[in-house]
Amino acid sequence: MSTRIVGIGGSVDPGSQSGYALEAVLARARDGGAEVSSFTGRGLDFPPYHSGAQPPPTARDYVEAVRAADAVVISSPGYHGTVSGLVKNALDYLEELRTDDRPYLHGRAVGLIAVARGWQAAVTTLTTLRQVTHALRGWPTPLGMAVNSAVTRFDATGATEDGAVRTAVGLLTRQLLDFRPPG
Ligand SMILES: Cc1cc2nc3c(=O)[nH]c(=O)nc-3n(C[C@H](O)[C@H](O)[C@H](O)COP(=O)(O)O)c2cc1C
Repeated sequence: MSTRIVGIGGSVDPGSQSGYALEAVLARARDGGAEVSSFTGRGLDFPPYHSGAQPPPTARDYVEAVRAADAVVISSPGYHGTVSGLVKNALDYLEELRTDDRPYLHGRAVGLIAVARGWQAAVTTLTTLRQVTHALRGWPTPLGMAVNSAVTRFDATGATEDGAVRTAVGLLTRQLLDFRPPG
């Protein structure tokens, strides 16, 4: 059976580089035989999560997709040095998986991408995504991607002329596809 991968992230801005970077990894995963779906930009525009929330249908679809996933890719823009509210709110919705047999992101590899218009926020945002992934009991891949959108540009297909970033995309995707949960 092919690996089911769910992509989460991007911003609502046209040409979102965090959205396109996510597509770069998802496209590579598709080429590697994975079954891929994604929730990006306005597709993540859910009301603020709170305990006991009644998630709207779009958020329920998203939660169900993550519930069924073998691996996840999260790509956030760096907003004021950290994860954007849109992406963090979507991650908060994973509280709906708390009582599952595989709670939260248990047993899943999680590829992480942070894109900011400078190195400082790219790196601090990536570090935060790792902390959130650990809190959600997921397994961050050894390689995470910190991308500086002032240096590296992706197009809508996830293509980039930055060879080093292309190599990183390939490595991160391989780590996602090769991951086997312990036990
Ligand atoms: C509200 C807001 C806050 C931002 N804060 C930062 C920041 O602290 N550091 C930085 O390098 N870029 C910052 N940016 C720029 C984004 O990180 C940059 O546009 C990047 O390409 C990712 O966003 P995108 O997916 O919309 O392209 C900010 C952008 C917005 C809209």
